[in-house]
Amino acid sequence: MARRRDNLLTAEDFRRAARRRLPRLFFDYIDGAAGDEITARRNADAFAEIALHPRALRDVSDRTLAARFLGSSFDLPLMLGPIGSLGMFRAGAETDAVRTAHRFGIPLCLSAFAMTAPEDMPEPPRPGDAWQLYVLKDRGRTGAIMDRIAEAGFDTLFVTVDTAVSGLRERDIRNGLRRITRPNAAMLADMALHPRWLLDFARIWPPQMGVARDWSGAGRSYLEQAAFLAGQIDPSFDGRGLDWLRARWKGRLVVKGILHPDDARLCLDAGADALVVSNHGGRQFDGAPATISALPAIAEAVAGRIGVLLDGGIRRGGDVVKALTLGADACLLGRAYAFALAAAGEAGLVALLGHFRAEIDTSTALLGKVSVADLRSGDAVPDLPRVFRSSRD
Ligand code: FNR
Repeated sequence: MARRRDNLLTAEDFRRAARRRLPRLFFDYIDGAAGDEITARRNADAFAEIALHPRALRDVSDRTLAARFLGSSFDLPLMLGPIGSLGMFRAGAETDAVRTAHRFGIPLCLSAFAMTAPEDMPEPPRPGDAWQLYVLKDRGRTGAIMDRIAEAGFDTLFVTVDTAVSGLRERDIRNGLRRITRPNAAMLADMALHPRWLLDFARIWPPQMGVARDWSGAGRSYLEQAAFLAGQIDPSFDGRGLDWLRARWKGRLVVKGILHPDDARLCLDAGADALVVSNHGGRQFDGAPATISALPAIAEAVAGRIGVLLDGGIRRGGDVVKALTLGADACLLGRAYAFALAAAGEAGLVALLGHFRAEIDTSTALLGKVSVADLRSGDAVPDLPRVFRSSRD
C-alpha cells in the first residue's frame, strides 16, 4: 500500500489512484466536462501538439524558477486554482492545499464553493493568495462576501466570468449530481462501495460550506448550501457589472474565464489587474478552443498591461514552460492537484508539485534557458500547429 503511494508522481498517476478511492460520482464530477468533453481533451491535446526546440552549448548552470505575478514573487510560475467541493474528496484537502502551496512558495485561490470560510484559513493568507467569487443576483450579499474576504486578509479576488449559466456535464446529470440537496439511494450505495473514502468523510460530518454557514435559507448541509449558491449566480453580470466590482473591491482583481482578445481588452479597460485564460477545464462550453491556442492573441491584445495567467489541461511541467513561452506569466493547476489531494492527501500534493518543479527546471535547462524571464524572452519560439496560426497571423 505504502509502496504504491510512493510510486505516484504524475497527474495521470493520481487520476488513476483517485478513481479507485473516490465514489464514482465524485470522480466523475472532477474528471468530467461539458457535452462530448471535446474541449477538455483539446486543452491537453493542444499542449502535446506544440514542439519546443532544445538548445545545446549554453551555460545553464545557474538557474532560477522564481516568477513574478499577481504583484509578488513566487518560487515557481504556478498557482493552485479554485476547485469547488475540494474538501468533499478528502477530509482536510483545503487545509492541505493551503499548507502545501505555502511550503512550495506559490499562491492558491480558494473556491467560492470551498468548505473553508475565508476567516478559517489554516495559515494567514500570503500576498497573492486569492478567494474566488461568483457575482450573485443579490449585490448586497456579494458585497458582504467581499468584505469577509478582505477582512480575512486576502489581497486578491478572482471573479469567474465563464459561468453565466452552468455547463451541461452529462456524467453529473447521469449520476444525479446536479443541484441535489441530499444523496439518493444509488449515491449512498456508491459511497458504501468506497469505504476508505467513507471512513475519512465521516470525520467532517456534517459537511458545511464555509461562506454560507450563517445564511438563512441556504440550508444546513454542504449540498443544500452549494445548490443555493449555484442558484444565486447572476447571469446578467456584464461589463457594467465588472465596473461595479472593480469599484467595490479595493484589492487586486483577477478575471477568470477569458478566451477572446476583445473580452481581454474589456478586462483591461475595467481596470482588472490580471486575467486567467480559461475555459473552466472544458466544463462550460464544449467546442471552445484550447486555452493554450487562445493565449497568443490575448497576450498580444493586452501587451503586458495586465497580468496573464492560464489554466486548462496543465498536466506536466513542460505544459507550464510552453505556456510561458507563449506569453503567460504563470499557470493554474486544476484537476491535476485535485486528484493528487483526493488520492493521497498532502503527501500526494507534495509529490505532484515536486515533480512539476523538477520538470519545469529540467525543461528550462534543456531549452538553454536559465529563468522564467529568459523563457518569456521570445527566442524559445515554439513550433505551433495550424490551429494557432490563425490567431497569430
Ligand atoms: C473547477 N473549476 C472551478 N473554477 C472556478 O472558478 N470556481 C470553482 O468553484 C471551480 N470548481 C471546479 C471544480 C472542479 C472539480 C474542477 C475540475 C474545476 C475550474 C478550475 O478552476 C480550472 O479552471 C480548471 O480545472 C482547469 O482545467 P484543468 O487543469 O482541470 O484541465
